[in-house]
Amino acid sequence: MLFSIISIAVALVGITTATVVPRANTSIDSVQLPAKTVASLSENNTFLENLAPRQNGDLVISMLQKNATLHYIKDPASGRAELTPIYTFPNANGMLGIGEVSKDTFLIAMHEFESFLNPYPHTGAVWEVKFNGGGPKDFAVRKVADLPDANMLNGMAVIPPTCSGRRFQGLASVLIADCLQGQLIRLDPSTGAHEVVLDVPELHAPDHSDFPTGVNGLKIHKGYVYWTNTVKLTVNRIAIDSDGYPVQNATVQVFDISSWGGALDDFVFDEKDNIWGVNSLTNIIYVLYHGTSPSSLYTTYQSVAGALDSLELPGPTAVTWGTGRNDRHILYVTTSGGTVQPVNGQQEPAKVVAIDTSSLQK
Ligand SMILES: *[C@@H]1O[C@H](CO)[C@@H](O)[C@H](O)[C@H]1NC(C)=O
Ligand SMILES: *[C@@H]1O[C@H](CO)[C@@H](O)[C@H](O)[C@H]1NC(C)=O
Ligand SMILES: *[C@@H]1O[C@H](CO)[C@@H](O)[C@H](O)[C@H]1NC(C)=O
Ligand SMILES: *[C@@H]1O[C@H](CO)[C@@H](O)[C@H](O)[C@H]1NC(C)=O
Repeated sequence: MLFSIISIAVALVGITTATVVPRANTSIDSVQLPAKTVASLSENNTFLENLAPRQNGDLVISMLQKNATLHYIKDPASGRAELTPIYTFPNANGMLGIGEVSKDTFLIAMHEFESFLNPYPHTGAVWEVKFNGGGPKDFAVRKVADLPDANMLNGMAVIPPTCSGRRFQGLASVLIADCLQGQLIRLDPSTGAHEVVLDVPELHAPDHSDFPTGVNGLKIHKGYVYWTNTVKLTVNRIAIDSDGYPVQNATVQVFDISSWGGALDDFVFDEKDNIWGVNSLTNIIYVLYHGTSPSSLYTTYQSVAGALDSLELPGPTAVTWGTGRNDRHILYVTTSGGTVQPVNGQQEPAKVVAIDTSSLQK
């Protein structure tokens, strides 16, 4: 079993060839969906990186700067939500991707950084946070694995568990992006076993790039793993099997989104397969529409929130849908407060913003 898995993975590395879909060059007039701040941190030079909802509607939030302190928002739709620090991980000072691998059990990727986007070598690790029944402070943590060969872990996507009949009991495996080496790593949290399952040019940044981040956001949706390549200005996908391994001889499909001159980071799908993604350089959220035919797949886009010179979403980093009783049409966004790229010379403490998308969901 183990050998066959390894040989499939090795067989795949480097052999896929890409098909490129025409540029996403059909723009729908931009709209400004209503946005309001859910909660802010109190200090500048803070950078919230990613977020995941609990099934009870609360949000679990990772912080990239200035330390590896996990934050929590109880009932984000309440109108009086707070960003509460709940745990600081050892041997790390920045956290990245986060994913729920079983009800109320989350994995979080982290590193010890020397400077922004520059982790010390061999510091990659994935930890588990398992919430119990008793509110935000009632949880247990354990280290799942060290990933010393990863240069910088970034996005994380949960491989949907296949359950025949009864409810899935174990922990789902995940794919994690190494944004500096341009690889996808598969990690099984029940054993800590991990391996590179995809290493293709579409995951890499261009050689000698100033900003060496290739693969960044990562999601699994309807039999494909999708990723953004921030420097190449693309969204990409490849077919995967039910264990998360790329299908043998599958090709990478590339959606060229360079026409809006920006770079997508994290994203999320809606029920109509549209992609809602953040551009952390232009402070804008875009929808990339699914389209109705293979030739129109992800060719139409629309700007729906934020603006280059606005402090509405300074440095948006990740998005997720609400899972509470009243917020399923709310897109929650984490920001870096413009820490890396100030807005009109200004930064602010990192925050979480709620965008009401109901006018576009009818
Ligand atoms: C969009 O791209 C397609 C294919 O690349 C091209 O045929 C078409 O003319 C372009 N449309 C615009 C408005 O640029
Ligand atoms: C981590 O950073 C947050 C936000 O700046 C701060 O409130 C907290 O005290 C820091 N925690 C540690 C353990 O350094
Ligand atoms: C994959 O490609 C190899 C080399 O071209 C070929 O030998 C093999 O039969 C293909 N496998 C499948 C499942 O198509
Ligand atoms: C954050 O920095 C801006 C300048 O970029 C300053 O105006 C603001 O007062 C600072 N906020 C805090 C909470 O220190």
